[in-house]
Amino acid sequence: MKENRVHQRCIAAGLKYISKNEDFDHVIIMDADGEDRPEELTSLFNKSKENPSKTVTLNRKKRSEGPWFKFLYEIYCILINLFAMKKIRFGNYSLLNSRHINKIYDNSISYQINQLKKKNDVFLIAHSYQTPDIVYGVADSVSDSYSLSKAARDAPQQTILFSSVRFMAETAKIVSPHKTVLHPSPEAGCTLSDSITAEDVRELKSRYPGVPVACYINTSAEVKAEVDVCVTSSNYLRICEKLPGDRLIFVPDQLMGKHLAEYLAGRKEVINYDGECYVHATFTGEKIRSWRERTAEQGIELQVLSHPECDADVIAESDIVGSSEVLREEALRLGSEGKSDIMLITECGTADRVRAESENDLNLIGTCVMCRYMKMTQLEDILQALRDPRPEQIIELNEEIIQRAQRSLDEMFRLAE
Ligand code: 13P
Ligand code: SF4
Repeated sequence: MKENRVHQRCIAAGLKYISKNEDFDHVIIMDADGEDRPEELTSLFNKSKENPSKTVTLNRKKRSEGPWFKFLYEIYCILINLFAMKKIRFGNYSLLNSRHINKIYDNSISYQINQLKKKNDVFLIAHSYQTPDIVYGVADSVSDSYSLSKAARDAPQQTILFSSVRFMAETAKIVSPHKTVLHPSPEAGCTLSDSITAEDVRELKSRYPGVPVACYINTSAEVKAEVDVCVTSSNYLRICEKLPGDRLIFVPDQLMGKHLAEYLAGRKEVINYDGECYVHATFTGEKIRSWRERTAEQGIELQVLSHPECDADVIAESDIVGSSEVLREEALRLGSEGKSDIMLITECGTADRVRAESENDLNLIGTCVMCRYMKMTQLEDILQALRDPRPEQIIELNEEIIQRAQRSLDEMFRLAE
């Protein structure tokens, strides 16, 4: 814990952390006031040796508080004993047996997930838009789609569980075909990836022969297999400007394609498609302008951070544009520099992470939008998929599709680095 919260909460947080992350037989609960005497701890060890499976307690003898504190403390103890109607002992040392601690957390779903992960050597990847219980309770790697593709590719574990939407789990399978990839929510799609099929790409290619095709990573494996290169929100500008020729086909995000076209104006023509992310399409430049005006009237200098799946008008109004991970990092950086009035134009998961991780008081202005697909996965689904995955929760792709889609992703890694 970063702050000195209530004693009991600190102990509970510590025990939970140990039970999740450490192999241990016993734990001694102590405070940090430096008054614990080694001989008393030795007695505690000896008492425990007599019966190692038990939790043991011992009276703490030395107390150095002044007489007033002692007097009030005695009254406090009497009152507690009276109210509880039983004798409660204060100021003890406790040596807790691991069985008893684990029992407390045994019923928690995240505890069971973490145990199964350890036992079956599973690497659990979660996108930033997943709910905080997944992000902070069970995930081994949390980030944007580019970093997570690399994490899946480089993980030494033979099983990956991908907590996110379907195309991300498919991407993990494409970059590491020999691994088992579990996807707890097969029904979690994405309006972008659902907007285009491999047949649509083949049609575009026959209409514009020889023109390079770039696809956003939010697409199915079959679509990735048809294109020359994949891109993500963290590298689409860099990669597209490196493609040969003076034209390129960009699928399927028309909003990203629109500001890509503005960025490349005079150098390349962008042939766009008509897909949209239904979350990011809701934001408008008009709304940002009106927030800026209103906050400026109150002397607030608004920092606007937006995701590149937004409309070009939103991008033009923004101070920072980047992937979900870049937006998280930048919001935390702005907060640490005292620029705490921040508008996050993206899915709500980013705001959740920024709030949880910021060490500074932030004033997050405006509203975020929740993606119903990203929020489909719950801890229960992850536990069930780890225990006994249904066939549709195991990503299976055609060999040939994997090989062709891998070429587009490898090209992305090559051009992005
Ligand atoms: P990121 O790669 O920025 O995480 O974006 C993925 C996505 O689906 C955003 O809606
Ligand atoms: Fe797809 Fe948009 Fe949801 Fe991301 S936020 S998964 S792009 S629908």
